[in-house]
Order: sequence, then structure tokens, then C-alpha cells
Amino acid sequence: MIQVKFYIFFTLNFHFILLNSQVEWEKYYNAFNDNNMSEIEFWSQNTGIQNLIYSCEDKKMFGGYGIFGSKTIVSKQFILPPHFKIKIKLDFWKLDSWDGEFIQIISDEIVYQQKYIGEGSQICGNQFNDFIVEFDYTFLHNSEILNFVMRDTLDENGYNESWGIRNFLIFIQKCPNSCIICHEDANECYTQDQADHFKNNKWQNLQSIPISSTQCVQGINIIGGYEILDKFSVINSKFSVSPHYQIRIQIQFILIDIESLNNSFDFDFDGEIVNFQLSTKSQFSICSKNPQESFNNLEYAMNHAKEEMSITIKPKSLEGARPFWGILSFNLLIFKCPKNCQKCVNQDICLLCIDEWVVENNYCNRLQNPFKVIYFSIQQVFYPVNFQPQVFNQSIILKKIETFLNLNISISCNQNYLIQIRYVLCHSCKNKITINSKYVCERNKIQGIVLNIKLKKLMITSEEVLIKRNNTNYELIQIFYNNEMKQEKIIEIIQKVI
Ligand SMILES: *[C@@H]1O[C@H](CO)[C@@H](O)[C@H](O)[C@H]1NC(C)=O
Ligand SMILES: *[C@@H]1O[C@H](CO)[C@@H](O)[C@H](O)[C@H]1NC(C)=O
Ligand SMILES: *[C@@H]1O[C@H](CO)[C@@H](O)[C@H](O)[C@H]1NC(C)=O
Ligand SMILES: *[C@@H]1O[C@H](CO)[C@@H](O)[C@H](O)[C@H]1NC(C)=O
Ligand SMILES: *[C@@H]1O[C@H](CO)[C@@H](O)[C@H](O)[C@H]1NC(C)=O
Ligand SMILES: *[C@@H]1O[C@H](CO)[C@@H](O)[C@H](O)[C@H]1NC(C)=O
Repeated sequence: MIQVKFYIFFTLNFHFILLNSQVEWEKYYNAFNDNNMSEIEFWSQNTGIQNLIYSCEDKKMFGGYGIFGSKTIVSKQFILPPHFKIKIKLDFWKLDSWDGEFIQIISDEIVYQQKYIGEGSQICGNQFNDFIVEFDYTFLHNSEILNFVMRDTLDENGYNESWGIRNFLIFIQKCPNSCIICHEDANECYTQDQADHFKNNKWQNLQSIPISSTQCVQGINIIGGYEILDKFSVINSKFSVSPHYQIRIQIQFILIDIESLNNSFDFDFDGEIVNFQLSTKSQFSICSKNPQESFNNLEYAMNHAKEEMSITIKPKSLEGARPFWGILSFNLLIFKCPKNCQKCVNQDICLLCIDEWVVENNYCNRLQNPFKVIYFSIQQVFYPVNFQPQVFNQSIILKKIETFLNLNISISCNQNYLIQIRYVLCHSCKNKITINSKYVCERNKIQGIVLNIKLKKLMITSEEVLIKRNNTNYELIQIFYNNEMKQEKIIEIIQKVI
């Protein structure tokens, strides 16, 4: 087993794609640009103020003088497409008499913090100095969810000390086209064919009571959280997943009222205990009066093949007088077995196939269950007939338990045509015996032919036969779905001019 944070290396035979600096930054989100404040309604903040836009000369901002003051928390949760790197840019306006207080910009576990003491010059707001700064920072990130929070440590109201933001932008470096997960340095890329996302939000305690959700800042849901999950709480989730050989979990924790940067959790994966040390880089205070909170993204990969999965999470050491914790998101990535495989070692080695398929050279192959011709009669008709020709192709699927196929084929003679009949007694048997016969259609002689054929297959698999026909020709073909589609002709009837 391999425990990782951010980087995981696999030695499996995947199609590796090199992610390097060639990957372009792509603008994913923008808000508060060019005085366009339309995104405000999708952001959360705790001011209780109705009008959240301040105009400084000809520039509008989200928040600002009299709006974002002491204890303001601004938050938004973003759901991002598969990516491995994020760049955030924003114009921060420090307004008026900050005297050693901080602004904190929290992007999951990345906390950008800046202190201000009277910088800048008077622009607007109150009579004190204002200062505009562009924050521009980049970090590795590959969770689907990004939790973004801004908070200040101000101690005066918004008419003395305030702040606002403009030109907020998120850029991402996306995973190459079809990858659903990637990392910058691990040169890996897993596509939809190789892996599936499995989302799980159903957690319960050991008495099977669902864990309720809370919010400590608006817009960011927590499974558990303040006064719900403490240092003795154990949570569990059970679910079933499609055939796979490896899993990877991506989990985002929030720790609340914690007094240490080092905390640890035990995970129990189907009886296998793994300890995770959460080494928090930075803390901040957003949930309750007590410091400190932290976001922690954790990623973990393990070999796993059972279809039923049980995950139990239990704090091992959580420092603090009354610490709490919760889950912001939980994402399971399942590395799928190849097609038609039920149990595998990896994408290239199958151990057990689904019903009707067998392992052949590590792959799942469909059994060749040939039809054998067990009865074949040809009746010549000497009186005038007018069999309505059926010209439509037809697919007949014989289920595993159906073993016989009866076919009656009637052919009207075209005058001066030759009817050639060819059939194979057992097309996939070693002795492939082919029988040919010919009938000449002449005036006052043969007027038609009626064939009665009975085919048999073994009760091993379901099989499909295809009847292709037009006015002159008839073909009965067996279709095999192996790794590729194959066909074998059983009967062929051709009418042609003599
Ligand atoms: C305002 O910004 C939003 C979000 O970025 C965008 O969808 C919209 O088109 C913009 N409106 C104008 C008038 O530019
Ligand atoms: C705001 O600033 C003024 C002038 O410095 C000061 O008198 C007042 O107490 C401050 N208000 C608060 C809420 O701190
Ligand atoms: C956290 O643990 C690591 C390794 O055990 C140690 O080096 C570090 O000093 C600890 N940090 C704190 C804040 O206790
Ligand atoms: C029957 O199958 C043949 C060969 O695949 C095809 O050319 C023909 O168009 C089909 N006829 C009908 C009626 O679908
Ligand atoms: C085919 O013909 C035989 C003999 O005429 C008859 O017993 C049988 O029911 C027919 N089968 C079908 C499928 O029409
Ligand atoms: C009937 O089908 C055969 C083979 O499927 C084809 O070669 C022949 O041209 C077709 N005849 C007509 C009249 O479409």
C-alpha cells in the first residue's frame, strides 16, 4: 500500500501522458470584472448588509467601505473539471486605517496571509490611506471541489477599517482531454475507460444513525462539523462498487477548534487499518470563537477488489479542549477491470469473467458455441408457387437455455436461374464439412424450393444469428462477440442467371 499526498506513482501499464509546462492556463471563472457585479448573488458573506457593492470613484467592488469590516467572512465553493493546478488572481482593496491586521485568503489548505499598517494613499472610503494590491498565486490541486474563504482580523467597524475585492479570476491547468484525474509530476492520466468516479455522502455512526450536516461559513457544507463529530466520533460508510482492482480516495476534512498542526485519523478499509497524519500547513479561525480551523485534502490509493466496501473513519489524535471535525467532500475513484471481467489484477489481466465469458490469455473471450446443423431437408416444388419473398434482414438471439433453432426457407424460382445452396454442418468444428447443391429453375420443372433446417447449440452461452436476405440471396450468419466481432456463415443460398 502506498500513502500519498498530492503525488502518486503507479507502476501499472497505463497510457502515461506527460503533463508539463506546455499545458495552458485556462480561465475557468471570473467575477467582479469591469464593474460587472452579477456574480455577487452566488457568493456568501456574513455581513447582513443588503447592498454589497461599494463604488470608489468609477470602480465598483464586492464589499468595501462600510460593508466588509471587522469579522467579515466571504466564501464560495467551486466545482472544477479535472485539473491539476490552480491560479487565483484578485484585486484586493485595503481601505482606511488598518493597524497591523491581516487579510487571509484561504483556498483549501493554502492560506495566503498579508498584514497591513497604514500603507498607500487616500483614494476613497474614510480619510485614511487606501492600498490596492493584486494577489496572484498558484498551487497544485486536483480535488473536484475548491473551498474559497476570505476573512480579516480587523477590530474596528467597516467605516474605519474595510476591504473589498475586484477582478476575481480562477485559472486552471486541465487534465489532458479525456483524463478524469491527473497530477502534475506523476505523469499519469486515467480516462473514463480506466476509472470511474464514485461519490459518497452517506456517512453514519456505529449505531447506523446518519451523520447530519452543518455549515460554519455559508455555502460550504460539512458532513459532521461543530458539535456533531468530536474526538471520539467514529463514522462509517458502506457501499458497493463495480468490478475494480484499485481504488483511490480523495477526501477533504475540516478540523475545528484544533490546537495543533499535527492531528491523525485512522481509516479502516474493510478491516485494513491505515493511519493518516494530517500535517496542517496553516490554520485560521472561521467556525467558532475558538481558534483554529484548517482544511485538509487527503489522497490515498490502495489495491482493492471487493465489490462491497466499508470505510470507517476515526480520529486518533485530535488536539484541543473541544475539537470537532467534518468532511467537506469524499470522492472515490475506482480503477475498473476490463470489459466483461468480474475480477482482475489490473486493466490487462483478468482473473474471472462475467457469465458466458471465459478467460483466454488474460482477457475475457466469448465462448465460441457453434450451431450445428442437425437436420436439413430440401423439398423441390414442381407446381407453380408464389412464395412472398421476405427481404428484411433479421437478428435472432438464442438465449443460453434455448438450444434449437428451426428455420423454414421458401424460395420461388426465377425462370432460367440457378439456385445454389451451401451449408456448413458445424462451422467451428475441426472437420468443417461443407455441403453444396444446385437446382436449375426451368419452365414446367422446378418452381420452388422449401428448406427445413434445424440447428443446435450447446447450453453454454447465448448466441446471435443474423439472417441477411434480399430477392435473390439468403445468408445465415453466426455473430461472435469476442474482443472483436467475428462472423461465421452457416447457410448461403444464391440465385443467379444460368
Ligand atoms: C458579467 O459577468 C458574468 C460572469 O462572469 C458574465 O456571465 C456576464 O456575461 C457578464 N455580463 C456582462 C454584461 O459583461
Ligand atoms: C473609528 O476611528 C475613530 C477615529 O480614529 C475612532 O474615534 C473610533 O473609536 C473608531 N471606531 C471604532 C469602532 O473603533
Ligand atoms: C508535527 O509532526 C512532525 C513529525 O512528527 C514534527 O516534525 C513537527 O514538529 C510536528 N509539528 C507540530 C506543530 O507539532
Ligand atoms: C441487409 O444486410 C445487408 C448486408 O449487411 C445490407 O446491405 C442491406 O441493406 C440490409 N437490408 C436491409 C433491408 O436492412
Ligand atoms: C417449418 O416446417 C415444418 C414442417 O413443415 C413445421 O413443422 C415447422 O413448424 C415449421 N417451422 C417454422 C419455424 O415455421
Ligand atoms: C443480394 O445480396 C447479395 C449479398 O448479400 C448481394 O451480393 C446482391 O447484390 C444482392 N442483390 C440485390 C438484388 O440486392
